Amino acid sequence: MPMGCQLPIIRLLAGLLLAATLTACPPDTPSDVVDLPVVAPTPPPGGADPSTFRERVFYELWVRSYQDSNGDGIGDLKGLEQRLDMLAKLGIGGIWLMPTFPSPLQDSGYDVANYRDVHPDYGSVADLERVIEAAHDRGMLVWLDMVFNHVSDLHPWFQNALTNPAAPTRDWFVWSPEPTTRCVDVPNQFTPFGTDRWTWSDEIGAWYFHQFYPRQPDLNFRNPAVQEELLDTLRYWMDLGVDGFRFDVPDRFFENGHRCAMQPETVEFHGRMRELISGRGRLDRGFVGEIWGVQDEVRTFFGPAGDPAIFAFEWLAALWTGAVVGESGTVLAKAARTHLAGLPAESRWGLILGNHDTPRIGSIAGGDVSRLKLAAALQLTLPGIPFVWAGEELGLEMGTSFLVDGRDGARTPMPWEADAPGLGFTTADTPFLAFSPDSAAKAQDRQAADPESLWHWYRRLIMLRNAEPALHGAEYRELAADGNIYVFERGQGQDRRIVAFNLSRTASRRWVGPAVEADDLLGGGRHRLRDLHLPPASVRILAPR
Ligand code: NOJ
Ligand code: CA
Repeated sequence: MPMGCQLPIIRLLAGLLLAATLTACPPDTPSDVVDLPVVAPTPPPGGADPSTFRERVFYELWVRSYQDSNGDGIGDLKGLEQRLDMLAKLGIGGIWLMPTFPSPLQDSGYDVANYRDVHPDYGSVADLERVIEAAHDRGMLVWLDMVFNHVSDLHPWFQNALTNPAAPTRDWFVWSPEPTTRCVDVPNQFTPFGTDRWTWSDEIGAWYFHQFYPRQPDLNFRNPAVQEELLDTLRYWMDLGVDGFRFDVPDRFFENGHRCAMQPETVEFHGRMRELISGRGRLDRGFVGEIWGVQDEVRTFFGPAGDPAIFAFEWLAALWTGAVVGESGTVLAKAARTHLAGLPAESRWGLILGNHDTPRIGSIAGGDVSRLKLAAALQLTLPGIPFVWAGEELGLEMGTSFLVDGRDGARTPMPWEADAPGLGFTTADTPFLAFSPDSAAKAQDRQAADPESLWHWYRRLIMLRNAEPALHGAEYRELAADGNIYVFERGQGQDRRIVAFNLSRTASRRWVGPAVEADDLLGGGRHRLRDLHLPPASVRILAPR
């Protein structure tokens, strides 16, 4: 890959900037790149302890872009229910649904107008209950996306506050006669929101505070009624069978003057949420926090044992480097070292290759399937909870039409059937958002028919991970790391497994490991670790004898 092409990507990694549009670099696929070996899928999950969320592979999806069941061009809950078998087939152990609540969709549902209902485009609360039950029948957990920092301006709490000076919810928002310099300690990482934090309300004759779009007024967490209402919302959904939550920017609930993230009051509120969700030994329940920032600060949100997960956005930067650039063993090893040092035994990082906010890994890797296979192997063998973003298993690249902002490029509808009108996503003439240009070529049915496809690769890795306690546990030891080589050990004793990467695009490498033989769980056969041959862009998952 020419350096001029790498540099913008590296800057992107370093800053974790969410580009409104992504200019993908042309793939660099030298002819001697050896594709990864393919074997028949391993048996269905069975190794993972079904009672806890920590060992599972999660899958993030937007109901709106997953499967339309009634021909209106919009994905819905009945459609999702039809696709649960497919997710189970992939080995997925839990699904995180992007916000499913009523919303004017000024921020794709992250502007909630009612926390206890379902958006009519998606169906009803009963439909969601059916999805939960059907997921449970297939051994999958269901997590909802909870956006507590702010609401939609159409939420009755805000509407009442605007129209009725005596409304109790007036104080549920933050008002000021002047647009002060509140909350400037962290720049908003999501570029589309701009830097304005205050919007004038004619109705009130005052400014209201918001950290995101103006139509997303911030909730005033200093009002105890706000806290109680939100905790009650969690109870409501858990009573309906929900197993956990992804929390939207949960480091930003309280502000203190110029500081708007990571405040002690916010950490304390987390403790209350944790107690409610996973306290009293409910290890089947959990949550993951979307906390951007430097990982040693972010760690503040891990509490004592039994704690939930936090997305490792800094680690993501290293994974992107590993996927795209190659020559990155040292970068990857350093990211693992810093994230895992001193981590409480029960805590987990949420490992992602992207999500609904970031550019798609498919585009970042320029569509190069051999790099995408390496990226998936990293995500699925390093310690943590992998969250696969819908479409990554197909290698989808960014779409080019947007509804709200450039992030829509990563949220295009799922292509299920290459030759069906509406690609099997919808029978409508037009889906609510255009498919990404590569969708037909990468449709799920086409990949299911090709044993060497990325989809099969994901399936084999996830099945293997599910079946191998070493791969879904917490132990990790670095064995080797240089420019191209990255080797680590997972698990211990009889169960220990060695994962060996050669990240180079072109050069074969040898790793001089211990004087034992090991079975290759991915590629088949047996290898001497003393002289382990690693073809370019390859990974071996090894069981030492
Ligand atoms: C983070 C979410 O991931 C993003 O999509 C959303 O726009 C902001 N929080 C505001 O809710
Ligand atoms: Ca529909």
